[in-house]
Amino acid sequence: MCGIFGIVTRSERPLGEILLEAGRRLSYRGYDSVGCATLNSDGIIDLRKDVGKIDEVGKRLNFSQMRGNRGIVQLRWATFGAPSQQNAQPHLDSDGDLVGAHNGNVVNNVELREQFIAEGMTVRSSNDGESCVHAVERYLDREHDMLSAVRCAYQDLEGDYAFVIGSLGDGHLYAVKKGSGLAVGLGDDFSCVSSDLPSILPLTRRILRVYDGEIVILNAGGAEIRRVEDGSLIERHAETITESMEAVQKGGYAHFMLKEIHEQAVVSGELLHWLEGAQALAPILERIQKARHLYLIGCGTSYHACLSGAVYLGNLARRAAIPVLAPQFIAQYAPALSPRDVGIFVSQSGETKDVLNAIEAAHRSGMNIYGLVNVIGSTLTQASERWLPLVCGYEISVPATKTFTNQVITFLYLAYRLANRSTQPLFDLPRLIQQTIQYSDGQVEQLAVELAQCNDLYCLGYGMTYPIALEGALKLKEITYAHCEGMLSTEFKHGPLAAVTEGYPVIFVATQRDIPLLVSGINEVTCRGGKAIAIGPQDSRLRANAHQLLTLPPCDDALSALLAVLPLQLLSYHLSVQRGFDPDFPRNLSKTLTVD
Ligand code: G6P
Repeated sequence: MCGIFGIVTRSERPLGEILLEAGRRLSYRGYDSVGCATLNSDGIIDLRKDVGKIDEVGKRLNFSQMRGNRGIVQLRWATFGAPSQQNAQPHLDSDGDLVGAHNGNVVNNVELREQFIAEGMTVRSSNDGESCVHAVERYLDREHDMLSAVRCAYQDLEGDYAFVIGSLGDGHLYAVKKGSGLAVGLGDDFSCVSSDLPSILPLTRRILRVYDGEIVILNAGGAEIRRVEDGSLIERHAETITESMEAVQKGGYAHFMLKEIHEQAVVSGELLHWLEGAQALAPILERIQKARHLYLIGCGTSYHACLSGAVYLGNLARRAAIPVLAPQFIAQYAPALSPRDVGIFVSQSGETKDVLNAIEAAHRSGMNIYGLVNVIGSTLTQASERWLPLVCGYEISVPATKTFTNQVITFLYLAYRLANRSTQPLFDLPRLIQQTIQYSDGQVEQLAVELAQCNDLYCLGYGMTYPIALEGALKLKEITYAHCEGMLSTEFKHGPLAAVTEGYPVIFVATQRDIPLLVSGINEVTCRGGKAIAIGPQDSRLRANAHQLLTLPPCDDALSALLAVLPLQLLSYHLSVQRGFDPDFPRNLSKTLTVD
């Protein structure tokens, strides 16, 4: 995990502000520690780093005053080594004339650290990013030039990572990619490199893609890409990115999460228009139709979208699908896969390591690999035969909202097409989403005040709303830090009911067809003193039996199930704020998990 950004400019200038801004735009990738380093022409490396979020650390350590013609900023999400000043990145080499930072995991870092110490180097931290710097130092000490030292270091560093490094000995920055995202930005008098585009696009729209096994050498006048294998030059043309940058601003909302919840009406419409005109869909549909087994694979929120997909495909299109968490897909199904099978790999980021591992296993079986992904150019788009975009623009807040909705809509759309149904009713979704948010926001905000002290909740659904209940519970866990379990409503009586006491909150998510079943469940809770909150259609049975009903606009059950996620997203958001947390950056979590 983590985020890196490095820049080389033609002349020395105040780089601090540029690094701060780039860091802010990467902070969704890691925010337990942050560090900045600048290299200047007087042969000085200015390194400042500490535990905390970028604005607070940046202010305390005066990042904005840092000067130089090369700079690196790193946002850390701890894997190797606890969050501490020493483990924060960037790191220096033994003599302090080399500085670098990484994202991802160097899995053999413990062994390497012992080797570095035995070779007489000064190792200051227990963080694997420091291994990248010493791995380069090792070869510089053996009289290699920087390019050759970085190439040799790459061979020694095991794992999936990207790193950026600069030496006082020359005027460049060097970056390598091995399994973690990396892109280059080209300006008139600078070039830069980063784990992700939001930190580059405010500076330049000219982008060079970088692939695994490549080294980038950044100069003020441009960037060179070479193969790690033999150092040979790669000819690659820059592409111009036209995407709007509005998405990376809060646009008047208190948090990105709230903005992204509200954006769902618009992005759902854009997705549906895209799908309606997509030529790419026909061969995918045909292959899904004929597949022996159809697997839907993802992690976290994306897995919940797979669950929804399987319910829709089964119910509407009579196409059985197997939704499975990516690591379990390998453990459970890898030996049983065949070229006659199809896998749809679902991931917002397209970089989740668990998902990429599953794709590797799928590749070995010869099965068809399709992607459903938001970040275009991500590893998933490169690793799949065909992929469908989620058309959400940037999603900055760590808890996924709009990407989940568009993942589910894509599955719904596929199910409609496979069932030969007219897709027209789906085009009502943007309006219904807008209406649901409008109806529920005030009510949910009030409910959040009532639930602010609760540390245990359940969220139950059935059939089409079962995945939605799981997703609602995940959102609540992620950003309120309360324990919230999602469950099939009928399972509640088989155990968890024992926990219910006076005022114990249980949320029930219902579609019209399942109301009678849910009403039984509600009464099992309320008769034991529990507090039942229902999310569902305007219905007298729900209203009479639950303590509170958050109503959804009248529509078909398949659409209604999807709409139910909106009050749950809003409830998580307001509850998080009520409890004094930052919903955009929940502790211990990261948006893009590029580690095992
Ligand atoms: C992380 C995030 C989750 C996300 C999961 C899968 O754990 O914190 O919010 O659902 O990764 O991410 P993906 O990018 O593959 O959808």
